[in-house]
Amino acid sequence: MGEVELEDVTKVYRGGVEAVSSLDLDVPDGSFFVLLGPSGCGKTTMLRMVAGLDGVTKGTIRIAGRDVTGDSPRDRDVAMVFQNYALYPHMTAYENIAFGPLARRTKKDDVDRMVRQAARILEIDNVLDKRPRSLSGGQRQRVALGRAIVRQPQVFLMDEPLSNIDAKLRAGMRGELIRIQRAVGVTTLYVTHDQVEAMTLGDHVAVMRDGVLQQVGRPSELYDEPANLFVAGFIGTPPMNLVEATLTRDDGVPTFAFGTHRLGIDDRVFERHPRLRVYEGLPVVVGIRPDDLEDAAFAPTAPADARISANVERVDTIGRDLHVHFDIGAPVVDMPDAGEGDFGADDDGPAFALGSANRFVARIDERTPVREGDRLELVVNTARLHVFDLVSGEAIG
Ligand SMILES: Nc1ncnc2c1ncn2[C@@H]1O[C@H](COP(=O)(O)OP(=O)(O)OP(=O)(O)O)[C@@H](O)[C@H]1O
Ligand SMILES: [Mg+2]
Repeated sequence: MGEVELEDVTKVYRGGVEAVSSLDLDVPDGSFFVLLGPSGCGKTTMLRMVAGLDGVTKGTIRIAGRDVTGDSPRDRDVAMVFQNYALYPHMTAYENIAFGPLARRTKKDDVDRMVRQAARILEIDNVLDKRPRSLSGGQRQRVALGRAIVRQPQVFLMDEPLSNIDAKLRAGMRGELIRIQRAVGVTTLYVTHDQVEAMTLGDHVAVMRDGVLQQVGRPSELYDEPANLFVAGFIGTPPMNLVEATLTRDDGVPTFAFGTHRLGIDDRVFERHPRLRVYEGLPVVVGIRPDDLEDAAFAPTAPADARISANVERVDTIGRDLHVHFDIGAPVVDMPDAGEGDFGADDDGPAFALGSANRFVARIDERTPVREGDRLELVVNTARLHVFDLVSGEAIG
């Protein structure tokens, strides 16, 4: 099986667009590795370079320890599944899956065994005689996966293969993909702009922005310890609240001050961000996940310096959660809309922008009888505050 390594891989297109910049990636053998980033950040470019469909401008690509940088696609032993999985319309599902191995002159009996085995894993045994147009989106998707499986490659490369499938089926297909990948055990490099998809599928997730790698980790690491404001804002729904605050002391207690609010800083925040002590008296960006805010009625013993009160501007009911929107009364960091490429400014501007809007979101218990216009007291889980440098946008180490 195949580990995939990218070392200092750069792609500059004719015309000068640098789509991928000095990318280092280590995709462990047998893993489900997701590359996540907004539209235009270079995901497809990266996959096409690994597949050999595009050359690299600089750098080295290794598969299973072998340098394949100069190899043609057919010598790399990878199978790519595209966003529009282009099945042959005049062929049945069976013929679509069998086409590759037959073209490579594999014996008919062997092909039959391979197709039936793949179909069993994919649970499409009962639709093998149908043409694509009479298959559902999910079934077509699985036929496309079947074609990749019978190649028995060292690596699967998948470019947003679920994006043409409706939302409900897509959630089911994610589970299927994980099951199939575990069953086949083939190293899988999967790209998507959908952070929920990335967090559900990946054992490892790499976040990319404008061709530059931002952070690699397990999904929980990216969620709990985002390396910078981009990752903090990109991962999580609703996104992390990010507000400009000053690190001060209140009666000797280290405190974040923003607007009229004062939050005592838990020791655990200093443990996670030891360099934070240097920032006393300086502005920083404090991040609070909507999950780390709760209606104070459910936490009566919470101390005063873990509370903020707010005027409720809007309440969205989403399943068992209430998303409460309110004005925090201090500048918050502007977040990109999901799937949009232009987060913050570019090379000559700051890493992000402080917005004129002051909106915060809390995800709170559905039993809270809160309505628009109410005054609501919230408790902050101050042990889980995130802190970022105001200028660089990097998490304070
Ligand atoms: N053949 C090409 N020639 C010139 N520029 C290109 C070419 N292909 C892509 N680009 C540019 O390279 C950048 C990265 O494109 P890429 O298709 O890799 O992004 P992506 O992350 O896959 O986006 P999406 O999520 O929209 O599919 C973009 O700025 C794009 O315009
Ligand atoms: Mg793409």
